[in-house]
Amino acid sequence: MVVLGAGPAGLVLGNLLLESGIDCVILERASRAHVETRARAGFLAANTVRILDRHGLAEGLHRRGQKHGACEFRTDDGRFSLDYGRLGREELHTVYPQQELVTDLLTRYMDAGGRIRFETKAVAVLDADTAQPAVTVREADGRTGRWRARYVAGCDGRHGAARASLPPGAVRHHRRDHGVSWLGLLVEAPPSLDAVGYAVHDRGFAGHMARTPEITRYYLQCAPGTPADAWSQDRIWDELELRMRARQYGPLHRGRVVQRGIVDLDSDVLEPLRHGSLFLAGDAASVISPSAAKGANLAVLEAEILADALADDLLRGEAEGLDHYSARCLTYIWRAQEFSQWMIRLLHAPSGPDGESSFHHSLRRSRIESLRTSRSQQDWFAENYVGV
Ligand code: APR
Repeated sequence: MVVLGAGPAGLVLGNLLLESGIDCVILERASRAHVETRARAGFLAANTVRILDRHGLAEGLHRRGQKHGACEFRTDDGRFSLDYGRLGREELHTVYPQQELVTDLLTRYMDAGGRIRFETKAVAVLDADTAQPAVTVREADGRTGRWRARYVAGCDGRHGAARASLPPGAVRHHRRDHGVSWLGLLVEAPPSLDAVGYAVHDRGFAGHMARTPEITRYYLQCAPGTPADAWSQDRIWDELELRMRARQYGPLHRGRVVQRGIVDLDSDVLEPLRHGSLFLAGDAASVISPSAAKGANLAVLEAEILADALADDLLRGEAEGLDHYSARCLTYIWRAQEFSQWMIRLLHAPSGPDGESSFHHSLRRSRIESLRTSRSQQDWFAENYVGV
């Protein structure tokens, strides 16, 4: 088995294959240090924690992760908090920076004797429509090579070799540009709220997400095409305080911005998630906008489904799991996409010359109001917000 990519999808898959005794190698383009320090998402759904628990991969997140069960909305009409841990299925998030999860998964995989090649870029997946697919690679020193296996798992993200190797027409590509961009910031400062904060403002959305006691993530909606360095630190903090209504609800803990980047909110789904002997999981299968923090959770879920199906096929000769892999995952993916799209519409006016009509603006306000006042709407929110 060849697995492309050492993100959450590839590493969970690698660990589970190893656990089943299936021979596999992970090929990762980046260095080990890069993979272990790349700050990404940080919200793990309850089901994700259950999956990791089942396979003994959750020790670090139980020790260092923090439980979260509330989020706060701030709008012109006031603020309200949703204790989603007491609503719906009464499930909590575990806040655990993704690079720490990746480090745990990697350490566990390597300690268990798992094979991984860092700085080895997959160039192409060949012969995917046969029972003997191959992956061509280029290593950091320029040497090239080829790996053969019964199956290849493309866990190498949206720009990886797996997607790029799909012949035209082999899979359908659904995509959506949400017309919204965020300036994503990692700041050296403790969280300013006990909860995730969503501020809806005429100047655009602002978000607050705890990461660790020393590091907080903020997001500021900006015009599409804005360069990441366009805003000074002072402007960033002024804008965050304005949109989060710090004057009314208390100042933010300011700190140095240590990382920034533009996130264009777009989503896509490939269908089916298989081409012959090549399977797609994680971002390679579907990119989901970060508005509802579903990406890493879907990646872990898909990796477990794929690992089970591969074990059935390779160890017991039962191909049914692999035949249903795509359809099973797509049910979860579309549900997550639907909720994520709902969140985007709740939180933003679309950018662009036309902006948002007064009609849509009022609909959005009414949607927030029903979230504030309707218990059944809150239960629905909670179930989808923490669920995958
Ligand atoms: N060859 C080998 N490795 C590659 C290649 C390639 N051609 N292209 C990309 N990679 C590696 C990347 O360096 C990265 O380590 O594949 C890995 C993909 O990992 P992620 O981007 O973390 O994707 P995935 O495992 O699918 O996790 C998905 O995690 O951060 C969240 O929300 C984010 O949705 C995303 C989720």
